[in-house]
Amino acid sequence: MNPVRHLQETTSTNDEARKWARRGATDGATVVADHQTAGRGRLGRTWHSPPGINLYLSQIHRGPFEKPSLLPLLGALATREAVQKHLPSDLTAAIKWPNDILVGEYKIAGILSELSADVVIIGIGINVNMQATDFQGDLRHPATSLRMLFGNRQDRDAVLNTILDRLRHWREQYRKNTNQLTDTFGRHCITLGRKVTISLPGREPLAGTAVRLNTRGALIVEGPDGDTHCIEAGDVEFQPR
Ligand code: BTN
Repeated sequence: MNPVRHLQETTSTNDEARKWARRGATDGATVVADHQTAGRGRLGRTWHSPPGINLYLSQIHRGPFEKPSLLPLLGALATREAVQKHLPSDLTAAIKWPNDILVGEYKIAGILSELSADVVIIGIGINVNMQATDFQGDLRHPATSLRMLFGNRQDRDAVLNTILDRLRHWREQYRKNTNQLTDTFGRHCITLGRKVTISLPGREPLAGTAVRLNTRGALIVEGPDGDTHCIEAGDVEFQPR
């Protein structure tokens, strides 16, 4: 069983996991906090992390990795499956590349992976008991939570147990066969086949159609002239169909 540390409050579980990794924490060790005072999202955004309602956790993955860029996808696959298991049965959780988890148009979970020196920290935030009035800040997507979808409070520990199980599963798959990981990701990725605009750090936005993932999890986008672009990181906006 991988060790799990529960904290009442921290700045960010990614920071705690990084410190723990430096002190020798083993592969799969996980930090969970009830409250983050400086939760981080992707691309420098903040992740509003009020106490007592949601899940904030970070898992340590030790390399060396042949394909480190697949680790964020691994986090997204595990999170999607955990959310799906705890959703009302008529709803579907999907992945917006690279790692937003959406139910319909609404974001329910996000993943922030941070890599340094052969350690990848996969940080996961899941909106479990957030209510409409709890959301703050500049939300790129409208957001939702399990509680908002069910209409009553949901059990955070049950979701935590599922996410830990799913992370273990996909970590094993990653070791055995990364094609299975990218194939499964592709099947649940609503970005594929969509017309998108991608904001790239320090470059002009790129418009085109998201056609597939490559073996390293990058998004292949076909431009209007049939030219293909390999996107390793960026912010995807869907265009009307
Ligand atoms: C995003 O969608 O922009 C990513 C959000 C990631 C939030 C989680 S909460 C646990 C971990 N600690 C953080 O500071 N961020 C991640």
